Amino acid sequence: MRVKSSERGRDALAGLHVVVNAGPTYEDIDPVRFLGNRSSGKMGFAIAEAASLAGAAVTLVAGPVALATPAKVALRVDVRSARQMRDAVLEAVRGADVFIATAAVADWRVATYSSRKLKKGARGAPVLELVENPDILAEVAALDRRPFVVGFAAETERLAERAREKLVHKKLDMLVANLVDEHVGIGADDNAVELFWPGGSEALPRASKLEIATALVARIAQRFRDRSRA
Ligand code: PMT
Repeated sequence: MRVKSSERGRDALAGLHVVVNAGPTYEDIDPVRFLGNRSSGKMGFAIAEAASLAGAAVTLVAGPVALATPAKVALRVDVRSARQMRDAVLEAVRGADVFIATAAVADWRVATYSSRKLKKGARGAPVLELVENPDILAEVAALDRRPFVVGFAAETERLAERAREKLVHKKLDMLVANLVDEHVGIGADDNAVELFWPGGSEALPRASKLEIATALVARIAQRFRDRSRA
């Protein structure tokens, strides 16, 4: 995908505070084991970079990833678990203009953390009881003074149908549906997405995550301005 020069708008988000969360969350089971996922953080970091290049003051809330902070990002907050990410995001979005939820937040954590390493024993494999984590995106979307809220959805099938469901169900301003296969999406350098908003959609074909992020930031800036004018 080619990014048009008009989409690299240097000041499309000037004066705005944008919060981005990125990467996985890790849910500890015991001192050596955790539940996690394959998110690398590349997509969220690319969005943080593109938004800061478009003039926004960006707060990046990062799960456990091995990535350097993009040069112009104003503040990075590192977290590990979904509950830590929730607290950091809720703090950061106070007074913010836009929240972009790129993180692959673990849906579940273990009900009881074991402070001792779980051992193999005569009773066989342990059974882990899981409990649901807070839904950070839904909590931000439900705030009285909410920012413009952009969610992501990584799906392996029925992409458009599930994306529209999430847009409505989570009361989002925009939903970025992310196809997952071996070339694009989670962990990969490239991405291919389809954007959905109330009343419209647009596909952004396969490109580097920074190109996708730049195009996405331009669409968000446009729709943010349209909503502010309405
Ligand atoms: O990090 P990369 O390797 O670059 O990969 C990027 C990505 C594929 C992880 C990213 O582009 C992406 O699609 N992120 C969403 C992953 C996902 O599966 O989301 P979900 O369908 O579980 O959740 C939908 C939305 O709710 C997401 O915006 C998510 O951040 C949010 N959510 C989900 C669960 C939860 N407990 N809290 C949340 O806020």
